[in-house]
Amino acid sequence: MKKFLTKLPEQAGRLLIVFIVFIALVLLVRFLLPASLKDHNIHIQNTVATEMSRQVRYAGSEVCASCHDEYNLKKNGYHKNLSCETCHGTLKEHSENPTEIKPLVPRQRDFCTRCHAFDPSRPTGFPQINPSAHNPMKACVSCHNPHDPKPPNVPQECQACHAEIARTKAISSHVMLECTICHEVPTQHKVAPRNVKASIPAEREFCGKCHSTQSIIKETSKVDLATHGEKYLCWQCHYPHMPEVE
Ligand code: HEC
Ligand code: HEC
Ligand code: HEC
Ligand code: HEC
Ligand code: HEC
Ligand code: HEC
Ligand code: HEC
Ligand code: HEC
Repeated sequence: MKKFLTKLPEQAGRLLIVFIVFIALVLLVRFLLPASLKDHNIHIQNTVATEMSRQVRYAGSEVCASCHDEYNLKKNGYHKNLSCETCHGTLKEHSENPTEIKPLVPRQRDFCTRCHAFDPSRPTGFPQINPSAHNPMKACVSCHNPHDPKPPNVPQECQACHAEIARTKAISSHVMLECTICHEVPTQHKVAPRNVKASIPAEREFCGKCHSTQSIIKETSKVDLATHGEKYLCWQCHYPHMPEVE
């Protein structure tokens, strides 16, 4: 053995020692590791046990319904998609022991402004305010019910929220058409527009009611539905709120 080693070039001998030390370390580490890190099945079992032993902290909104009317109030309003515990904190314990454990009640303005302060990255149409200009110094909840924050005046005109479309239509040849000739708009759309949608015409025949050569309406220009842009929906070529082609 000694002879064999001395025969090898000096570097190879050192390399061999490094290699042996490395293997020894790997074996040692493997020997010291707990079984749960070596065996996949034990590992999964342990993880499941750890997760199961964690305390459940959220109760879920349905649970609140059995004791609080706020559940029914919130159900159809603007805050429909917010969970109770978004605002009141984790409440599993309160649900089981309501007199001992008190929920958070976020009455301060800067709580609401986390979601409602103006921020250009928020989607257009999301209700935003400028906190320093919007009734400063007063609690938001003195004017808005947090469980049903309908705006104090529900807008009646489509124009209040769709100003640009209304202005466009007003100077187009469709000026005489009411929005509701083409859109079915449930009353609730004006209160919760994202939850209750207005309809949009589905097919070419809808425009054809007034514009097809078969239409009985006199004062409109006519096209033959079978040959005029036949492969496409009318509004792929004509913007319905400004339909004339330049
Ligand atoms: C088993 C019935 C029960 C359940 C379930 C329950 N609560 Fe309550 N809650 C009560 C009672 C009773 C009080 C009044 C406690 C008091 O004033 O001593 C209360 C008080 C509150 C208050 C007012 C605290 C204050 O300081 O004025 C809030 C907010 C509240 N609950 C939210 C919730 C939410 C959110 C849920 C669902 C996650 C929920 N509760 C589930 C019974 C319940
Ligand atoms: C947007 C945040 C928000 C959400 C979501 C919310 N709350 Fe509240 N809640 C508040 C605020 C703020 C108050 C305090 C209102 C006040 O002082 O006028 C309050 C008050 C309460 C109170 C006490 C009422 C009183 O007069 O003392 C109860 C009970 C309550 N909420 C239950 C609920 C339940 C149940 C849900 C879910 C169905 C819920 N809340 C969802 C913000 C919220
Ligand atoms: C976690 C985010 C969040 C918090 C916190 C929150 N809101 Fe809202 N709020 C929303 C969402 C989402 C809507 C629905 C927006 C929509 O329909 O487009 C909404 C809608 C509203 C509206 C209706 C505005 C309109 O005319 O379109 C008002 C008013 C309002 N919230 C007031 C409040 C007040 C007051 C508080 C504090 C008690 C509060 N919000 C806290 C997310 C939040
Ligand atoms: C003095 C009463 C009052 C207070 C306080 C108040 N608001 Fe309002 N808020 C109104 C009125 C009235 C409107 C509807 C007219 C308007 O847009 O100004 C409104 C509208 C809103 C809207 C809808 C804006 C939109 O463009 O759709 C939001 C969101 C809102 N408020 C959130 C808040 C928040 C958040 C606070 C607290 C930081 C707050 N409000 C405090 C009276 C109030
Ligand atoms: C309170 C404000 C408000 C009023 C009033 C309102 N809308 Fe809307 N409307 C919205 C918002 C916000 C959206 C966008 C919803 C979304 O993107 O999910 C919308 C979407 C629409 C859409 C598109 C629906 C879709 O599926 O893409 C149509 C069509 C529409 N509104 C028609 C009308 C008509 C017609 C009126 C009047 C009778 C009207 N709206 C009144 C706020 C309003
Ligand atoms: C001649 C029928 C017609 C009239 C009148 C009309 N719309 Fe539309 N509207 C449509 C059609 C068709 C679409 C679908 C367009 C598309 O998908 O490209 C549409 C789409 C919309 C949308 C979705 C966003 C967009 O720009 O595509 C909104 C919001 C809307 N209309 C609101 C209104 C409002 C508000 C009025 C009244 C001021 C109105 N519409 C009048 C036919 C009409
Ligand atoms: C209730 C009847 C009615 C409906 C439905 C209707 N329109 Fe019209 N449209 C009119 C009237 C009235 C005019 C103005 C008279 C004219 O120029 O034909 C007009 C004008 C037009 C024009 C301009 C014609 C020109 O000569 O410049 C086009 C294009 C048009 N509409 C397309 C559409 C499309 C696309 C739809 C379906 C989204 C539609 N219309 C639905 C009544 C209607
Ligand atoms: C592929 C694009 C396209 C489609 C789809 C289309 N149009 Fe047109 N439309 C045009 C063009 C371009 C013109 C102007 C040139 C012309 O008169 O053919 C026009 C003109 C019109 C005119 C005015 C005709 C006149 O005599 O002044 C009306 C009305 C019209 N279209 C209605 C419709 C209706 C209704 C539909 C759906 C059934 C529709 N269009 C689908 C491209 C289209």
